Amino acid sequence: MQVEALPSSVRSAVQSHRYGGRRIGLVPTMGALHVGHVSLMDAARRECDFVIVSIFVNPLQFGPNEDFECYPRTLERDLQKCENAGVDLVFTPATSQMYGSGAESIVSLTSLTRKLEGRHRPDHFDGVTTVVAKLFNITVPDKAYFGQKDYQQQLIIRRMVSDLDWGVEIVTCPIVREDDGLAMSSRNRHLSPADRASSQILFRALSLAQNLTQAGSESPDAIADRMQQLMAGVQGVEPDYAVVVDCDTLEPLVEQPERAVALIAARVGKTRLIDNQILRFR
Ligand code: PAJ
Repeated sequence: MQVEALPSSVRSAVQSHRYGGRRIGLVPTMGALHVGHVSLMDAARRECDFVIVSIFVNPLQFGPNEDFECYPRTLERDLQKCENAGVDLVFTPATSQMYGSGAESIVSLTSLTRKLEGRHRPDHFDGVTTVVAKLFNITVPDKAYFGQKDYQQQLIIRRMVSDLDWGVEIVTCPIVREDDGLAMSSRNRHLSPADRASSQILFRALSLAQNLTQAGSESPDAIADRMQQLMAGVQGVEPDYAVVVDCDTLEPLVEQPERAVALIAARVGKTRLIDNQILRFR
């Protein structure tokens, strides 16, 4: 497995493997890799001939009061996980290599990025789209792999790729969960034992939403209310939002749709968690 820190080295490595229709797959990450990340690598390994993982804790997507400084950094273990997953190349740039020249350009979407997560984390998605645009330009992948765990993020990346005519196919992989339902996340390691117990409420609220959808008697708004009520009673959990919205636009639903997405964000102790579930009404 090749490990490269310089964009120019990645470019030439990729160029030398881009022959005879060989497919290049990219899995962008911020490291602290877990089974959820590995599931993206596995999908890329199955579908592509040359698999690149990027590991870069992107300062541009963290707000001033967010956890950039204490975001977990576990490079040695991450490299081992990539090696075990059969990754071909890991790109681990330093911040100076990504933003060294005091860059002026950002990639910014006008509307999708301002909703839900965007309301609570202003500028977050501009940081995500800018770094992903750079990663796409450095690696020029045929396919790029993202997790449904960050539902709004994958939607935004899909929109960016379509709006800017990038020839990369976006693949969204299912959410990998712990045994009790908690979605795996690099941030889960910050949960105290008490927080860890309270955090189960996110998955319970989504499961309630799914059960109510299948029972068929409640509207999307009523289901969102029931999720909010369930979460309101739990000590140490402060919900930012719990909504049922359109799968593509994230807008409130006017009519009963075929499909919708339930999205939750909550602070559990000092840790902010997000999760979601696709709901099928018919
Ligand atoms: P990071 O949080 O490291 O996540 C990298 C990828 O792993 C994302 O696409 C995320 O949705 C996916 N992922 C995380 N937890 C998952 C889980 N439990 N199941 C399935 N997939 C999961 O998301 C980012 O990094 C950054 O914003 C990035 C796209 C790399 C840009 O900096």
